[in-house]
Amino acid sequence: MEPTTTRDAWQQAYARVESGLRAGGVDVIATAASLEELEGRRVEFLGRSSALTLLLKDLKNLGLDDRRELGPQAQALKAAVEQKFALRHAELENAADGAALQKDAVDLTLPSLRPPRGRLHPLTTTLSAIADIFQRMGYSWAEGPFAEDERHNFSALNIPDDHPARDSHDTFYLTGLPLLLRTHTSTVQIRAMEAQQPPIRIVCPGRVFRHEQIDATHSAVFHQVEGLVVDQNVGFADLKGHLQTFLESLLGKDTKTRFRPSYFPFTEPSTEVDAKCFFCSGAGCPSCKHTGWIELLGAGVVNPKVLSNVGWDPEKWSGFAFGIGVERVAMLLHGVPDIRDFYINDLRFLRQFDEDIA
Ligand code: DAH
Repeated sequence: MEPTTTRDAWQQAYARVESGLRAGGVDVIATAASLEELEGRRVEFLGRSSALTLLLKDLKNLGLDDRRELGPQAQALKAAVEQKFALRHAELENAADGAALQKDAVDLTLPSLRPPRGRLHPLTTTLSAIADIFQRMGYSWAEGPFAEDERHNFSALNIPDDHPARDSHDTFYLTGLPLLLRTHTSTVQIRAMEAQQPPIRIVCPGRVFRHEQIDATHSAVFHQVEGLVVDQNVGFADLKGHLQTFLESLLGKDTKTRFRPSYFPFTEPSTEVDAKCFFCSGAGCPSCKHTGWIELLGAGVVNPKVLSNVGWDPEKWSGFAFGIGVERVAMLLHGVPDIRDFYINDLRFLRQFDEDIA
């Protein structure tokens, strides 16, 4: 192919391009203020219709020898411009990253917002405190259903058909079913004895339901911890020893308690344990119904009839049982005068028990 551009013409063009770049072209690349502006400069100096690109294209119109000699020179000029461009591009990009970081900067010294902290309900902590003490005394844990049949709630516990506890005023019966809501956790005694052979040593914490007149010390739903120990030669002295150990561990040695004779169909003899009223120190007030004492639990020596009812031989085995009112204990531990406070979910009340979280 014959050359169509002369060496001189090309060199003159080259000289114009080069001096144009020297005179300022390269500077405007180096001083472009933004990536957009730099892109404009790139199109201007290195784009397809820039003088430099056209000059490079025009190389092919030179003779072979000229092309070999002048080509590298033109490429070197292009490379120098490209290098300036790359340098500025990197600078601007770094600056942009820096600005973005600055904008999104997190001030690690700012105090954080504390999310509201959950806490255990005072009844939950009281229940665990009670169960913990008995577990340390070798009792294991048993549970039973809320909806029970009459046998587990009454007859197997030697509560005869005509006992006032069976009165529908005390018990919630489930409509259309031979079931009721358990009125005490003593049901679990029967379930546990049916499920295993003696000896046994269990606590059964749980919710119970009664059709009660609601007042400062009575609620229709409340909690009990049932206890049952059956072994050989177990009697009232063992019951008293276990309960005294429990009460001292839970309430401290200074809290005054008393054992008072009582009656339960499933125990004989039976007792109730009261604590000195913690609101009036025994002087008499509405919380203790002016008796000076608050009842915490019922207990007694397991009635031999109850053992027979589950097929355990009362000649060979004997035991004791107790049922603790969890709300009463929580009221005593925390100085809460009204049982209803535990159930209305007033956060101002519940937030006071922060310290109970382990
Ligand atoms: N179940 C009784 C109640 O709800 C409490 C009770 C008393 C449980 C004596 C016992 C017991 O195991 O031996 O009032």
